[in-house]
Amino acid sequence: MEIRPWRPGDQQLLIAAQRDLSRASLSSRFFVGTSTLPVKYLRYVAHAPRERWDAQVATHRGRLLGWAEFARLPARPDEADIAVLVIDAWQRQGVATALFRAMIPRAAAAGIRVAHADIEPGNRAARAMIAAVFGDTIRASFEDGLLHYKMPV
Ligand SMILES: CC(C)(COP(=O)(O)OP(=O)(O)OC[C@H]1O[C@@H](n2cnc3c(N)ncnc32)[C@H](O)[C@@H]1OP(=O)(O)O)[C@@H](O)C(=O)NCCC(=O)NCCS
Repeated sequence: MEIRPWRPGDQQLLIAAQRDLSRASLSSRFFVGTSTLPVKYLRYVAHAPRERWDAQVATHRGRLLGWAEFARLPARPDEADIAVLVIDAWQRQGVATALFRAMIPRAAAAGIRVAHADIEPGNRAARAMIAAVFGDTIRASFEDGLLHYKMPV
């Protein structure tokens, strides 16, 4: 597995990875029932300025295994929303943990001090992953039907 920063053109890897992502995984990430990556999202990641949105990707033999991203909050430039998605066949093998371990120092170097993550209450995998990466003392607040995690970077 190779972990590296996002490069221009990587949206093509995301498009190809859609066949490896179940509806359940995609829906957990985007909070709507979907079998594909939202077109608006793909357009955004293809063109977003790096200082506003950046990601770390995991690949294996040219195939995308997953990616972790941070999107700076426009009103609070030292805070960012973070998210991660790992293809189904590679889940529970440490990919998300490795992605975050590589991404967090980059976010810190870019001036991010606080990370926010929204997770569906029933998403046990994501809750366990947050505890594994950020420590199990991190507590979430419940807002608009989602668990909202706020973590120091
Ligand atoms: C959540 C998700 C990113 C985890 O990715 P992953 O590569 O499987 O995670 P890792 O293998 O690095 O595991 C991290 C921790 O979570 C735990 N974990 C992962 N999947 C789990 C599951 N289904 N049930 C319980 N614990 C789980 C692991 O045991 C590990 O803990 P440990 O280090 O204490 O053993 C992956 O399930 C996914 O892509 N889900 C769909 C998208 C999503 O929900 N994204 C989160 C929204 S931000």
